[in-house]
Amino acid sequence: MAEQGYVIAVVGATGAVGREMLLMLEDMDLPIKEVKLLASARSAGLEVPFRGKDLVVQELSEESFQGVDVALFSAGGARSKEYADAAVKAGAIVVDNSSAFRMEENVPLVVPEVNAHALDDHEGIVANPNCSTIQMMLPLQALEQAAGIERVIVSTYQSASGAGQAGIDELWAQTRSYIEKRPVENKVFAKPLPFDVLPQIGDFEPSGYTTEEEKMFYESRKILGLPELAVSATCARVPVLRGHLESVSVDLKKALSVEEARKAFEAFPGLVVVDDPVNMDYPTAHACVGHRETYVGRIRADHVLPKTLHFWVACDNLWKGAAWNAVQIVESLHERGLLRG
Ligand code: A2P
Repeated sequence: MAEQGYVIAVVGATGAVGREMLLMLEDMDLPIKEVKLLASARSAGLEVPFRGKDLVVQELSEESFQGVDVALFSAGGARSKEYADAAVKAGAIVVDNSSAFRMEENVPLVVPEVNAHALDDHEGIVANPNCSTIQMMLPLQALEQAAGIERVIVSTYQSASGAGQAGIDELWAQTRSYIEKRPVENKVFAKPLPFDVLPQIGDFEPSGYTTEEEKMFYESRKILGLPELAVSATCARVPVLRGHLESVSVDLKKALSVEEARKAFEAFPGLVVVDDPVNMDYPTAHACVGHRETYVGRIRADHVLPKTLHFWVACDNLWKGAAWNAVQIVESLHERGLLRG
């Protein structure tokens, strides 16, 4: 690690997203002096390799943030609420992957390709958006710039890893039980997930939508800076380990041909068009895992409505949907001169 550079803490370093954050940090050009790994007492003492050294996981406490420049939080909303203040008081910028602060007015909610400028107004905490919201932001911003967007209808197909390591473990355990004809137990998901699709992620709200669906509505408006945007989401959990998929329909302000939409997507940073369905070339979960990009395909015009387009979006929910977007935020803070160090 560099003599000069930033001290970065990863809170939840042993979790599904925290481990990927470390991988992302490992490859970055950013000057890093030290990385502190924080998790629960259960993991204290574990050794994790990073840039040729073994780092030791420490138990998270209010004292963990002395000298830390950036604290990446991915240990659940309760830990963020309990410890983010201590990190900010110690002088760190918190990049929080939970939903704890996303809708607070003084907290920028950032997808760097879309609204990195919002970072300039941070007051210590920056929020990383919900995974299924992040991947939809790139194509929506491309269409907003090309034609203006008015209404979005999205159905998601979200993998088990969206519920963290416990979700991954439960899908494996349930699948084994199912195949061996043993009783299938569920703790993380609302019902057994193998060989089924569950139209529930989070809890149901009085609106009839789930908390995940409400996040997609409110967060999209905030990130895109479109407070009037109509967004209706149906979020489903599917028996896929990693990678989230979405079917998106957009009503535009002015008509755009499929070819024009494809060009807008191709020109947008972080977005890759994979759209040759005749040759079975379209984005899938397996194809997007381990990539930082968001993939878009199956771009179609509506049969009837001239200003409506439909398309399919896939991304690695643990990378662009979480760890990579958070690390990109750190990179953007650095590029904008907003990090001390
Ligand atoms: P640990 O592995 O020690 O339990 P995931 O997103 O995969 O569910 O991971 C959650 C992350 O949050 C893990 O790193 C986990 O650490 C961490 N975590 C959970 N509870 C606490 C806690 N009370 N204090 C600190 N870290 C916690």
